[in-house]
Parts: sequence; structure tokens; C-alpha cells
Amino acid sequence: MNRTDVFVEERAGTGPAPRAVETNDAAIGVPLPHESAELHVSGEATYTDDIAEAHGTLHAALGLSRHAHARIVSMDLDAVRNAPGVIAVLTADDIPGENNCGPVLHDDPILADGIVQYLGQPVFAVIAETHELARRAAALAKSDDVVRYEPLEAILTAAQAKAAKQFVLPPLHLRRGDPDAKIAAAPHRLQGTFEVGGQEQFYLEGQIAYALPKEMDGMLVYSSTQHPSEMQQVVAHMLDWPAHSVVCECRRMGGGFGGKESQSALFACVAALAAQRTKRPVKLRADRDDDFMITGKRHDAVYEYEAGFDERGRLSGVHVEIALRAGYSADLSGAVATRAVCHFDNAYYLADVDIVALCCKTNTQSNTAFRGFGGPQGALVMEVLLDGIARQLQIDPLDVRLANYYGVGERDTTPYGQRVDDNILAPLTDALLDTSDYRARRAALAAFNARSPVLKRGIALTPVKFGISFNVPFLNQAGALVHVYKDGSVLVNHGGTEMGQGLNTKVAQVVANQFGLPLARVRVTATDTSKVANTSATAASTGSDLNGKAAEDAAQKIRARLAELAAKLLGGSAADVQFAHGSVSVNGGAMPFGQLVNAAYLARVQLWSDGFYATPKVHWDAQTLTGHPFYYFAYGAAVSEVVIDTLTGEWKLLRVDALHDAGQSINPAIDLGQVEGGFIQGMGWLTSEELWWNRDGRLMTHAPSTYKIPAVSDTPAAFYVRLYENSNVEPTVFRSKAVGEPPLLLPFSVLLALRDAIAAAVPGAKAAPPLRAPATPEAILDALDALRDLPDANTAAPPAANPLTD
Ligand code: MTE
Ligand code: HPA
Ligand code: MOS
Repeated sequence: MNRTDVFVEERAGTGPAPRAVETNDAAIGVPLPHESAELHVSGEATYTDDIAEAHGTLHAALGLSRHAHARIVSMDLDAVRNAPGVIAVLTADDIPGENNCGPVLHDDPILADGIVQYLGQPVFAVIAETHELARRAAALAKSDDVVRYEPLEAILTAAQAKAAKQFVLPPLHLRRGDPDAKIAAAPHRLQGTFEVGGQEQFYLEGQIAYALPKEMDGMLVYSSTQHPSEMQQVVAHMLDWPAHSVVCECRRMGGGFGGKESQSALFACVAALAAQRTKRPVKLRADRDDDFMITGKRHDAVYEYEAGFDERGRLSGVHVEIALRAGYSADLSGAVATRAVCHFDNAYYLADVDIVALCCKTNTQSNTAFRGFGGPQGALVMEVLLDGIARQLQIDPLDVRLANYYGVGERDTTPYGQRVDDNILAPLTDALLDTSDYRARRAALAAFNARSPVLKRGIALTPVKFGISFNVPFLNQAGALVHVYKDGSVLVNHGGTEMGQGLNTKVAQVVANQFGLPLARVRVTATDTSKVANTSATAASTGSDLNGKAAEDAAQKIRARLAELAAKLLGGSAADVQFAHGSVSVNGGAMPFGQLVNAAYLARVQLWSDGFYATPKVHWDAQTLTGHPFYYFAYGAAVSEVVIDTLTGEWKLLRVDALHDAGQSINPAIDLGQVEGGFIQGMGWLTSEELWWNRDGRLMTHAPSTYKIPAVSDTPAAFYVRLYENSNVEPTVFRSKAVGEPPLLLPFSVLLALRDAIAAAVPGAKAAPPLRAPATPEAILDALDALRDLPDANTAAPPAANPLTD
């Protein structure tokens, strides 16, 4: 099969028809397959562990802390050193430079020094002849004779940390207007609490790094990372070397999901340290359980809220406190908490509001980026709050949502002061209401529930508005390097990383489109810090916005030089030169692209160029939490319908209709994949993935046997995912919109549909079902019990007949 073959999988409701922006071979807006699709399915794609090992390669493994918080009294590592195959054992004392791999504050030791701050923290590294022997020796960390500890008091949960006033960063506080007065004066009020669990990234390829020493104190580090420049930086600091001595390369990741934005650093550092000490190549690959025990996850959160509202449920004043479990160090928690603050509004106008976010310091893994980056944790509580208002007023939660939507030209300023000037919430919701048939199904559901004593159905529509840009303005920059070789083939390097999201495919489409070439003529190479310097993480969904623009800039510069030459050769003006279908034409004449390139080489025209992009408009005042943090917003909405078994708490997702705004999609096949994947991943977070630490602070759910991510069988049989026809109001690359993270918020509709079904089981209850997330069967039964115990609940025996079994 040829790489340029176009697959258009026809199936019900998979979005708009392919729309070609330009009629050349690398059409934009066409559902081309992922650039590595064949390699992925055939198993030929090279991940870090597949790189051919250099002669003399050694393997590292980590010895982990057995306590959540303890002083290290002594270490006697002789037994480890004497274990079979062991070449070296390294501790913090072996680090020549800085013992830190934290991205913002310097509070993340690579190897524990003096104290351990969570159970699972790496204390020493074993370097051995094989992976297996290294792991066996590292497992001796479990013995009391090897590391002796003096346990200290451990704080494990956000609630405990809040009570003890232990934070990794100062609280964030955003206030607009006078919410207290508005709440006091409101005709209706609601107070509540809520909690949502964390989430393990569960990338299929675990954390891994492979370091090879080079001449003159140099180091090449292959790292499975979203942030090669940061890996270069932390390795250089650790070795006390200049950055130019370290190269970090990443061809692709088997998923990152935020978990490799900062936390690939520990693995890169240990591999590089071991390589520097032994003068041999060293690979460090964490197995799944160690990966779970060592690395941070999505921040779980506990909330307190209070709101005042009118008869229609329109909010007049709101107060919320979001207490996030940061773990033992700051990592990216400050930016995560800021995004939580900036997404509490979700799709709704909040005139008078008070938002507090706390980064609670606990003796657990240091929580980090995960798809949505605090945005989901901010917006979820708003949806729960609106659901509570609807239950209290006994009206459809959809109508409460609609009553609070941001307006167009009025009621359109976010709490942080940015105007929502690209609002498409109303037309997008109307389109979804239409295709999902929400209102008719709501009525049908009520009829079903009246007849069905045990099984209860629920439905919910939830919207998403997600701000696009890094909320730290300087990170919104990118670079690229484009080479056109003498034969007319093109090589692209950019600062972004490929983790399955299709970034390289989109960037290749953009560059191929500039030159009017088929996609097969453009190759995107591994991300490499020696090619593009000082890159940002591939994160905040900005990968194609930033790197697409940078690569386009580079290609445009080369194209301008080629156009000038073509005009000289063929006559006419450079501005009129067309690049399409592999040929270059102007003034009635044409020549193949390759021929023009060769002529350019002989005429000594530069055939390669750098490119750069910095997102316009973004600014942010971190003191007042106001500004214009986002270049634009991406929107979406979903309707989910569930059925629950009120005796067992089991449930099933019956149907999903999702409509998502990817602007003018560069590649609808890839974007639909992102929406589907984001939906199922978010559903896993909210329903089945449960992280559980025992009272010693040991994470007990550290493998797929106990931690349940959604499987393909959890995908609803009726899963209608569509892209909303839209165009970015901002001049992004081909007016597309970022699509990586926003769809993760669409399955809020699943959680709210579960609450709807629970409410249906207890008619008369005027409180929302106190359903926590993840909504496991246990949580569903707990919520049913709690709701039945409320004074308004009508616990009269339901009708005996079950229509599903009749
Ligand atoms: N899709 C796949 N297949 N694998 C991933 O690891 N990460 C998500 C999202 N989609 C991810 C993914 C996250 S957290 C982000 S920020 C974006 O992709 C990053 O890529 P982009 O900016 O190029 O969209
Ligand atoms: N997303 C991901 N990573 C980040 C962000 C963000 O918004 N801000 C700083 N680092
Ligand atoms: Mo994504 S959480 O910004 O890596």
C-alpha cells in the first residue's frame, strides 16, 4: 500500500465529507491515514525499547522507598552490589551536578537524599548486565538490611493536607464581583461537596530512556518524552555539563497523555547518570508496576461549593474551592491548578464568582499533567453544581445549562477577564439536540423508568469550552527545520513529539501542501534537540497549532526562493507561481518540482530553512489571575444515555452522540480518532479507573489487574461522533483547532447520565444523587442508599413488572 492512499471509512455519522482546501496531492482536510499507521499495526514502529542496542549496553533498575515519609537512617548496599550481574549501584551521592529533575521548582530529587517523601520514590539505581538481573538486585530494596528508615508522619489525602495547611505552592484565588452578596440575595441557594479521583496515564509504552556516552563528555539520550528539550536540560544540570553536550531524541512515544511532559525526566536522568559513571550505554525501562508506583497521575480533587440562583437556575453568585492532591512536590501543579481555575466556568457566564484552588502537599506520587491538565477537574464541579440546581428546581438539567451559557456580545467575559469572542455553544448544542433527539428520548426515558423497577435509565447533555494555549505565555513558541534535497524529496524536523496523536501526519500535510507534493515526498524525522533548540513540551493540545505554523513558515521561505527562480526560468512574476501536483507552473509554463529544485541547487539557492512561530495575543498576570491566556476556545458537546441496575450498581453506556469543534480539520480521520479516544479515556477516569492507597500510603492499584481502564467492549454500540463544521476565527494553520485534550471533557455526560438514572430510582428526592467519581458500581450503590435516606425521597415500592424481562 502506498502512503498517499486515502482511506475514507464510510460509516454512520463520522463527520463532514472530506473537504480539500487546495487541489494538490497533499490536500488539507482529507482523512489521510496516520503517517505510521502501517508500522503501528504491523509492529514495525520503532519505540525506544526497539532501538538496536549498542555493544556493551547495560540495564538499570530502581530500588524504591518502602515508606510514604521517612528519614533514611542508613544504607548498606553491599548485598545489592554483590548480586549476580551487578556492575554498579548509584545513589544521590553519585550525582555530579544537581540532584533534581523537577520542571519548575527544584524540589524533585532524582534519587532520594536523606528522606523519602512517598512510597515508591527511587532511592538507588542498580546497573547490571541484563534487565532481569538489574530488577532482581533492585528488589533487595525491600529488605530491612539494605535501607533502614525512621518513619515520619505521612499525610496522604488532599483533605488531610488542607487541614494541616500543607501546600506545595501558595493557594490561587480569583474573585470577580461580590459573590457573597449575590448568593445571600438569591431566591435559591445550594451548597455542596464533591470528589473526583485521579487517573493513571496508562500509556501503552511505559517510561523508558536509553543513554549512550559520546566523545568529549557528550551524551545521547533516547527518551520516550513529550519534552526532549527539558530532558536535555535536566540531564545537563544533573551532570553539571553545558546543554550543548547533551542530545535528546524521540522518534515516537507509545502514548504520553501528559505523563511524559515532565516525568520522563527521572528515567532520562538515571540512564544518563549510569552511562556517565560506567562509560557504557545504559537503558532504563520501568515495568508497569514500578511505573505506577513512581510516577504522578492526574490530580484527584475534593470540592466545596455554594451558589445562588433564580427560578430558571440562572447563577447569580458562585463560590468554589478546588483542593487538588499535588503529591510530594510541585511538578506542574501550579499550571494545572491555574487551568482548573480557568475552566471552572466551562461553558457558563459567571458574573460574580470566587474560585480558590489549593495544591495540597501529600506523601504520594507527584501528580502531573494528564490530558486536560486541570481543565477537567475545574469544569466537572460546575457541571455537578448545575445538575444539583436542576434537581432542586425539578427541571431538566439541560435547561439549567442553557440558561447559563455564555452569550454572544453580552454575558461573554470569563472570570479571568478574557472575552469569549468565538462562542458557538448555542448552534453546536442545537445541532446536537437535533441529531441526538434529546428531548424525545428524555420523554421516552421517563416512560421507561415508570415501568421498570430495577433497571433505570438516565440521559445527559454536557457542553465543553476549552481554552487553547499553554497558560504560561512564553511556552507558546515553536521551531522547525525543513530540508529540500536535490532530488526534490523533503525532510521536516520540528520541535513537537509524536505520541500517536497524528502530529507528524498533520505537519507533513502542511509542508507537502506548501510545495504541492504528495505526502510520500515528505518525511518527518525524530524530534532531536540538536536540530531545533529550546522547544516547548508537546502539550496543551498545541502541537499542530505551534509546530504546523513553524514548519509552514520554514517551507514558505524555501518556496519563496524557489518561486523567484521559477519566475526567472519560466517568465512571469514570483507571486504568480503555483506549486501543485508535483509541478511548478507560472506564465503558461511548468516544470517538475524536482527539476526546479535541482536548478536551484546549481544556482546556489538555499534549499533548507528554519521556521518559527509564536502565538499572538496571549498574556497572563499570574498575580491577579487575569489576562488573555488562550488564543481561542475549542467547543464540543455530547449526549450520553445509560442504564443502571439498581440492585448491583452495574451499568451500561447505551448510546453516545458527540459533536466536536476541530475548526477546519486538517485531517478529519485523525481528529475523529482524537475525539473518540478522548471520550473513552475521560469515561474511564469518571467511571472505572480507581486509584487506591492503603493507610501506609502504598498504591494498591498498580497494574491492570486492579486498575480498570476501559476496554474496547466498553465503547457504546451506538457511538456517533461528528466534527462540527466550523472555522477558527483566528488565523491558525488552515483555520484548524487543537483537538487533543478538549474531547476528554465530553464524557462528563456519562457521569451526569448516571446521576440522572440514580435520581430516577428515587422519585421525589430534591437533592442530586451524591455520586462521587469514579462512579464504580460501589459508588452507584452508595449514592442510591444515600439518596433514599433523604427526607424527600419517595421510597414506596416501585411497580413490580420489569419491561425488559416481560
Ligand atoms: N493521543 C494519543 N494517541 N496519544 C497521546 O499520548 N496525548 C494527549 C492528546 N492526544 C495523546 C493523544 C494530550 S495530553 C495532548 S496535550 C495532546 O494529544 C498533545 O498532542 P497535540 O498537541 O499534537 O494534539
Ligand atoms: N498544558 C500543558 N502543559 C503546560 C500548560 C498547559 O496549559 N501550561 C504549562 N505547562
Ligand atoms: Mo497534555 S496533559 O497537555 O500533555
